[in-house]
Amino acid sequence: MGWNSWNYFGLIKNKPPSDTIIRAQAEAMVRSGMKAVGYTYVNIDDEWQGGRDSEGNIRPDPINFPHGMAALADYVHSLGLKIGIYSSPGKLSCAKRVGSYGHEQQDANTFASWGIDYLKYDWCSATGDPPTVFQLMSTALQNTNRPIIYSISNYGIDQPWMWGTASGANLWRVSPDVKDDFYIMAETGFGDNGLETYAGPTKGWNDADMLQIGNGGMNLGQYQMQMTLWCIMASPLIAGNDLTLLLDKHSKLQQEYRALLTNSDVIAVDQDPLGAQGRRVWEQGPQEIWRKTMSDGSTVVGVFNRVLGTVNVPLPFQQIGVKGTVDAYDLWAKKDLGKIQNGYLVSLGAFSAAMLKLTPIK
Ligand code: GLA
Repeated sequence: MGWNSWNYFGLIKNKPPSDTIIRAQAEAMVRSGMKAVGYTYVNIDDEWQGGRDSEGNIRPDPINFPHGMAALADYVHSLGLKIGIYSSPGKLSCAKRVGSYGHEQQDANTFASWGIDYLKYDWCSATGDPPTVFQLMSTALQNTNRPIIYSISNYGIDQPWMWGTASGANLWRVSPDVKDDFYIMAETGFGDNGLETYAGPTKGWNDADMLQIGNGGMNLGQYQMQMTLWCIMASPLIAGNDLTLLLDKHSKLQQEYRALLTNSDVIAVDQDPLGAQGRRVWEQGPQEIWRKTMSDGSTVVGVFNRVLGTVNVPLPFQQIGVKGTVDAYDLWAKKDLGKIQNGYLVSLGAFSAAMLKLTPIK
């Protein structure tokens, strides 16, 4: 769980990341309550790179990072958080900054010496066999002896879920870039069904890309749908908004975004120690039900209405793999629904999602 600079600063603001931005986001991660519910990694995405020195060492952009990366990492660590960085196995990153091609071990050593905890390694201009190319950086990171989370992306091409674990990755993107747009988000999220056998604590995670909550291109129901879907899928939760805006106590909208990002019952579904990725179990046109098995023996269902209009979706217990009568809890409404049985109706508004925890009665 964490935050990444790309969606808000790279795309919306057209601004490269900087020392000032990263410090402010890290502070906001703490003050907004995001850290308290588990968000930990403050990830610097593309456009931090400032080329290489005469010895080939990668350097941050000197204007945007005047104190250097080690000092920034120290600051982020002093807040009890971790720090991530970005590179590419190609000669150039996606934004045409210098990549790690031919400098894999040198860059891994540099990142480790700065105190980096997470690397997003993004295909961009790379060539060659992706499993082999990604393995090279994994070995380089391991050689540093610093634990560094390894997040790889080649946009879901060549089925990275089949070889991500063997290439040493902890998470792999399963699709093209998610955008702050309902239809792109839905295509990305709902399209990830069927990958559940590849994810888990000993394997790694299918990464559905960044959360868009707070960026303004979707309404609250649609953002709630993204959070629900991502948590049922056990996808990494990497926020993509400006966390400092969440600190505005007078903005009702920002407080709604904050509530969507920090609901600890919902996050517990994503972070459940069993690490089971959920899947679609029922579908009728634009209404869907997904289920996820939890380590405490309960089942969490996500119920989705992907279109306009209000609907009542019945829970078909047999199809969703639940038996008898269960205790039901509405995780978004934070409301006990009491005992429910086959056929229980879930009411949904336009473009919205519900998330229910169903616990067998002992
Ligand atoms: C690719 C990635 C994005 C982001 C940009 C940066 O598009 O998929 O997540 O890292 O590159 O240039």
